[in-house]
Amino acid sequence: MITNSDRNNNILPDLLGAINAIKLYSYKHPQVGLFIGKVMEGFANIFETDNKLIIGVFNDSLLVNQKPVVGMVKVSESMVRLLNEVSVDQIVFLKGLNEEEFSVFLNQTFGTSTGKFGLSEYAHILLGKISTDEKTDDEIKVDSIMELDSTNDFIRMLQNLDLQKPFNFNMVSDLSIDLVETFKYSVSPLKYLAEVKSEDEYTYIHTINVALLSMSLAKHIGIVGSELMDIIYAALMHDVGKMLVPKEILNKTGPLTPDEFETIKSHTLNGVMYLSNQKGIPRIAILAALEHHIKYNGGGYPNIAQSWKPHFVSQMISIADIYDALRSNRPYRTRLEHDEIIGILRHDAGIGLNPKLVEVFIDMLNNQFS
Ligand SMILES: [Fe+2]
Ligand SMILES: [Fe+2]
Repeated sequence: MITNSDRNNNILPDLLGAINAIKLYSYKHPQVGLFIGKVMEGFANIFETDNKLIIGVFNDSLLVNQKPVVGMVKVSESMVRLLNEVSVDQIVFLKGLNEEEFSVFLNQTFGTSTGKFGLSEYAHILLGKISTDEKTDDEIKVDSIMELDSTNDFIRMLQNLDLQKPFNFNMVSDLSIDLVETFKYSVSPLKYLAEVKSEDEYTYIHTINVALLSMSLAKHIGIVGSELMDIIYAALMHDVGKMLVPKEILNKTGPLTPDEFETIKSHTLNGVMYLSNQKGIPRIAILAALEHHIKYNGGGYPNIAQSWKPHFVSQMISIADIYDALRSNRPYRTRLEHDEIIGILRHDAGIGLNPKLVEVFIDMLNNQFS
């Protein structure tokens, strides 16, 4: 019986053949095409059940999906040497990869234009460093997402939100792009989440953190390109309705009256109304503003039909939302430890939260890489 691990490793000889062929021949040579065809067949098999294939080097050993390759000594040695030659420690191939993208990648990385891989933008291939290696941090451009200019522009825009003025959605897109670019090769969300220093900045910092966590979760699932951008956008906008809640209620340190609680809950519908009146807002952002407090199996708020199932993206944002809320100090409780939060998420899995997504989210946090 062929295991998934065998099936994944079986692609290695053809991949090695393709790399060697492109080093010897021109891009269009039939020999290159032959190997590329075989590799694409291998990917088709793998992507039937998996969303990605990770090939990496660690301590001069070849890893496939972060497991050492057993056997195939010659193939592994050659692959390690070739990856070292082009200073690539890890390649992630994502579902959706087609022959053209793979051919361009192969040519630019190993072919005559060797060394130019950094200039390429691949939709389904990520090049980077092994996640457990300290060198991973070389790929991160900032120590904190609060250092990004786009983060600060975005927060200022939220602080000064004016119902009478058109919404500057370019700032949301700019921050979405910056987050993708900054964490292109590696994500350690726990390390880069911003800390809340005062209660009145909570909503802004929380929004940025939820975007970072949602992006990491989406990437871990294998979502890339414009869909990834839309998810980040939706996360950045999920609590926009809170900007319309009076500050004295939003930042109140004492217990809320039932009326005040209703006002806070209204941030979902207020967000929907606000975003619906703007031009150019992705539909998913409006949906996530509506649904991020609706429970997986019904209930939550706003009051909506019990049978209503939140969109998959709203379900993702809900998990990121709860995780960040629990890890933050609030006036009514101190922050919870990572393990306590994981326990709460697991307890809510299948009730308020999508159980499969909860497990993927926990896996993402444990891996610290996507
Ligand atoms: Fe919310
Ligand atoms: Fe939130």
